[in-house]
Amino acid sequence: MKKQTIHSIQELKQLDEPITVLTAYDASFSKLISESGIEIILVGDSLGMVMQGNQSTVPVSMTNMIYHTKCVAQSNNGSLLIADLPYMAYATVEQTLSNSAMLMQAGANMVKLEGGDWTCPAIEKLTERGIPVCAHLGLTPQSVDALGGYKVQGRDSEAAAQILRDARALENAGASLLVLECVPSDLAEKITKQLTIPTIGIGAGNKTSGQVLVLQDMLGMNPDFKPKFVKNFFDSEKVTSISAAILKYISEVKSRSFPDKEHSFE
Ligand code: KIV
Repeated sequence: MKKQTIHSIQELKQLDEPITVLTAYDASFSKLISESGIEIILVGDSLGMVMQGNQSTVPVSMTNMIYHTKCVAQSNNGSLLIADLPYMAYATVEQTLSNSAMLMQAGANMVKLEGGDWTCPAIEKLTERGIPVCAHLGLTPQSVDALGGYKVQGRDSEAAAQILRDARALENAGASLLVLECVPSDLAEKITKQLTIPTIGIGAGNKTSGQVLVLQDMLGMNPDFKPKFVKNFFDSEKVTSISAAILKYISEVKSRSFPDKEHSFE
């Protein structure tokens, strides 16, 4: 597969071609996903729940992230690899730089961090030092306790305006991509139109520049975990393998048939 770069990903936004993203935490899924043609693999700190069985992403450490990033990088065949900076790994600019350097040395092409304009000094420094950054707004799971649970964000006009202001600030600071998690579709569309950088949605409607899901969620591996924005792509008679489910996801994201209204928030 063609090696994806931040430039090829940004070009997809210009071409109005939806960008496909899935998480992976290990070498076998990394190989399968990248060889299926997924443009971006995210080594998300969601591994704290999916791989470790925790109730949130808060317990995930840098040691965990480095280990899983190395596993995924070993067999990645062309996808752009983003690795999450875990909880408190970017509390200061100095910490952000040294922890990001470790993720890049483990094989990441870009680091992701959660939060609004308070993250701008760190994003500026990373960008200046040649480390591409993916920002993350809306529902930011590392702040689940401050947010009071896993809830849709930006529903009232004041909160929506704040997310829009943050999105502009993050782009101006140098972020190359922006994840929008659990925000109303109209807000995600507005942000996507106002920014030059691509937006990647999860529970953010089908007008973002791309979509991300947690692999194990879209394979229906946890029947007890069914948030509105997750679709099981492995539940029809025609889909008889994990590869086929991934190809179905790619096809539905590319045609913007996923996410539909049933998997989005008003
Ligand atoms: O950790 C993760 O997997 C994420 C995505 C759900 C966006 O941040």
